[in-house]
Amino acid sequence: MSTLARQLIAHLPKTELHLHIEGTLEPAMLLQLAQRNRITLPYSDVGAVQAAYEFDCLQDFLDLYYLGMSVLMHEQDFYDLTWAYLERVAADSVHHVEIFFDPQAHMARGIAFETVLAGITRALAEGREAFGISSRLIMCFLRHLPEEQAFDVLEQACRYKEHIFGVGLDSSERDFPPANFSRVYARARQEGFVPVAHAGEEGPAAYVQSALDDLQVRRIDHGNHALDDAALTARLVREQIPLTMCPLSNLRLKVISDMRQNPVKRALALGLLVTVNSDDPSYFGGYVNDNYRALHEALGLSERELVTLAQNSFRAAFLDDSARQAGLDAIAACAGKLGA
Ligand code: ADE
Ligand code: ZN
Repeated sequence: MSTLARQLIAHLPKTELHLHIEGTLEPAMLLQLAQRNRITLPYSDVGAVQAAYEFDCLQDFLDLYYLGMSVLMHEQDFYDLTWAYLERVAADSVHHVEIFFDPQAHMARGIAFETVLAGITRALAEGREAFGISSRLIMCFLRHLPEEQAFDVLEQACRYKEHIFGVGLDSSERDFPPANFSRVYARARQEGFVPVAHAGEEGPAAYVQSALDDLQVRRIDHGNHALDDAALTARLVREQIPLTMCPLSNLRLKVISDMRQNPVKRALALGLLVTVNSDDPSYFGGYVNDNYRALHEALGLSERELVTLAQNSFRAAFLDDSARQAGLDAIAACAGKLGA
């Protein structure tokens, strides 16, 4: 990798728009919280945790992801988790984050919605002070569970609109189409939550279409399989619907078998508003800048493309116009200083 590319990746201001806070639980913290909360896990040490993180598909990963989050019990645990993530990405020149959380997975274990939210939001507020990182919180519905449960968690979210900006859809994709959640998304939109959804990660292009038409989402999380459908791709370009792609996640979940198959470079060439993100960095072997580096190494992204990806991260973010422009100006200043 050229020195310039390395410096651009390290220093370009960027946002992260596809990040599950429960997926930032590093093995060391997992074991520490298990001990603190007297939870027994099938891992003896950090090496054993890392060795378990071999996945054949999304479901393989989700099984360990839900097991791992069982150590999160108290407000302080959610705070520690979120704080560690912010501290980590401050070092990656991340200026703004849009974070998913999965309250249903915690409520099913008897953890109160308020406990989860209080820990996360306290860390986000302190992260803004300490690192200047702004944030939005997106509450996900678990798509393998019935829509009635999504209504229950939406009711909780309505009490905390000052903290929760949007709603998303995650968990097992195959056989769980977006249209199953049309009614709860309609209610969420009425209540003022901004809608996004995972689609086209393992599911077909038709799920991306359904997320747009049935859920009226403003952004597609992943969206890899949208590129299988030329008419849908043309629509995504025309409407500039952002795709929040996650290269290392795709590789580790075998959505692709080689990083060279990653669609980010192709998506850029087609004029799609594509962004690069980490998804669940602790499970997939890298934070946001590691994703940029892996892409650059596999696809030979040009310096221009690296700058465009950083710009797209601000264009696709749910920021007001002045914050978006400030981010784009900061990118121009950084690229100028580095001679790109
Ligand atoms: N939950 C956490 N990470 C996920 C992913 N990549 N896809 C679907 N659900 C998730
Ligand atoms: Zn995701």
